[in-house]
Amino acid sequence: MAFPEGFGWGAATAAYQVEGGWDADGKGPSVWDTFTHQGGERVFKNQTGDVACSSYTLWEDDLKCIKQLGLTHYRFSLSWSRLLPDGTTGFINQKGVEYYNKIIDDLLKNGIKPIVTLFHFDLPQALEDKGGWLSETIVEYFDKYAQFCFRTFGDRVKLWITLNEPNMFALLSYDLGIFPPGVPRLGTGGYQAVHNLIKAHARSWHSYDSLFRKEQKGMVSLSILAGWVEPADPNSASDREAVKRAMAFHLDLFAKPIFTDGDYPEVVKSQIASMSKKQGYPSSRLPKFTEEEKKMIKGTADFFAVQYYTSRLVRHKENKKGEPGAMQDAEVEIFPDPSWANVDWVHLVPWGIRKLLKYVMETYNNPVIYITENGLPHNDLTSLDDTQRWEYFRQIFQELLKAIQLDKVNLQVYCAWSLLDNFEWTQGYNSRFGFFHVNFDDPARPRVPYSSAKEYAKIIRNNGLEGHQ
Ligand code: GAL
Repeated sequence: MAFPEGFGWGAATAAYQVEGGWDADGKGPSVWDTFTHQGGERVFKNQTGDVACSSYTLWEDDLKCIKQLGLTHYRFSLSWSRLLPDGTTGFINQKGVEYYNKIIDDLLKNGIKPIVTLFHFDLPQALEDKGGWLSETIVEYFDKYAQFCFRTFGDRVKLWITLNEPNMFALLSYDLGIFPPGVPRLGTGGYQAVHNLIKAHARSWHSYDSLFRKEQKGMVSLSILAGWVEPADPNSASDREAVKRAMAFHLDLFAKPIFTDGDYPEVVKSQIASMSKKQGYPSSRLPKFTEEEKKMIKGTADFFAVQYYTSRLVRHKENKKGEPGAMQDAEVEIFPDPSWANVDWVHLVPWGIRKLLKYVMETYNNPVIYITENGLPHNDLTSLDDTQRWEYFRQIFQELLKAIQLDKVNLQVYCAWSLLDNFEWTQGYNSRFGFFHVNFDDPARPRVPYSSAKEYAKIIRNNGLEGHQ
């Protein structure tokens, strides 16, 4: 029941979801500040992250929680516009630098390794105004920002995540318009954003590689979201093909170019090209990488970071009329098995994580894998007893053990989402993922452990499930 010696146990947060201090000490606005301040019921009860967990002023409380769990790793993100208020290195907000310096130093003093995400959805508004991730200019802005972070914090931070869930982010932000900037651009915006996200990641990896790696000796990757998928009808060849397309349009969309050959999966290119033709576009809605770009993109990650929440069934669904959208381009229908229990959108499929890990191992040449997020919301907002939620985590850990011991997956770090209850994007404070409960009605924002916090601490102490010392 033991995990390999030295296995990393973490928890994750993201700047906009916990920090608050949205305009404190010279921070510039991010797209999430703008979006939530506009109201319009796009977020549960028009809630905002203006104060959130107030981690900007209560970092010491967060540190207590981290120590109480006994984490070996803490994953958090930098707010780009707290460091660079207009997104550019033209002006550096020293107070922002000090805030993150303190977090990093405190973690290291306590023997905890920081995993730092550069971009977790909160683009500086000033850059959104210049076209955001739809505009190629973002590649240069991101690279400059990344270099600034490597230069400023890289003497101490050795684990970097450039982008959080760029696959999910591109779809929600620029295709469906559910996240800021909130403008739907079905079948076009998402791919444009994906294209620039991949290039931005690759450019910043090269900057690290050529300017900082020798001295700093760290590792750089990106965290890709991957739900697991199974054919709706395992006996149907077309459903089995649909599963491959679903993976290609989701995990592989980023992983294939970055981990193998610098280009999108073939099936993604052919599907989008033929749908675009059907719809009368002069060329494919999916932009193309030049040969030079492919070379630049290929091999730009030092480990494989993946985030798993849930699984789905997939059915082939022909797009006869050429309807716009990513799912339509993939010609798939994706839905949960009605027999799976769920809390909100998370269907409880612990075995999906093992299959996913095996898929990554087999498809991407047995890389070192970090799970940078995995979790489940608590289903009872009134109670600190989350025994039921813990049962899911326990099953997840059993699946991880099988992946490591039986499948020989090279999994080295596991980060749960999340340390604290926080601003859960469009769900506001109505969805609670934390090991620590936060009372958002109390100005002091007290952190109180759920019962699962004690259980997680035990697992970490034992480096494994009960029964093992
Ligand atoms: C991820 C995201 C996190 C968190 C989590 C739970 O997609 O990276 O910020 O919100 O989902 O929904």
